Amino acid sequence: MADKNVNVNSDFDELVKNIEEEIVEEAREIYTEKTLEEAYNPKNVGELKNPGGAARVTGPCGDTVQIHLEVGGDKITDSKFITDGCGASIACGSVVTEFAKGKTVEEASKLTAEHILAILGGLPEDNIHCAALATDTLKAAIGDYRAKKLC
Ligand code: FES
Repeated sequence: MADKNVNVNSDFDELVKNIEEEIVEEAREIYTEKTLEEAYNPKNVGELKNPGGAARVTGPCGDTVQIHLEVGGDKITDSKFITDGCGASIACGSVVTEFAKGKTVEEASKLTAEHILAILGGLPEDNIHCAALATDTLKAAIGDYRAKKLC
């Protein structure tokens, strides 16, 4: 009986491994290596304790991206994001926050979805809005920072 359980477990592990390999293989046909790298190993995931600027934006797909900024002088010294969205939105959040760090607020405010798409080597048509959602959220966080500065 115990031997039968060992076989069932090892068959199940093999099945899971095969399914995982198929999923990764399918993703490689759709997304660039850079997108997969950023989606599976995203940078700057999380929240800041007292962000100088913060925004949460929901895109046309219903997914949400939140970005926090820490600003020192006129430079963005730290940036974090979280999202409940797709893998492409994770990749875009990672690239957008990485881009923002070390830039002046003015420089970061000029970042566009096209810039993110160029960094990622493109996204499928259905995911183009994910890049726009990430850059719109960055711009909204910068807007929040500027509004707080005026107070
Ligand atoms: Fe909604 Fe990517 S953010 S599909």
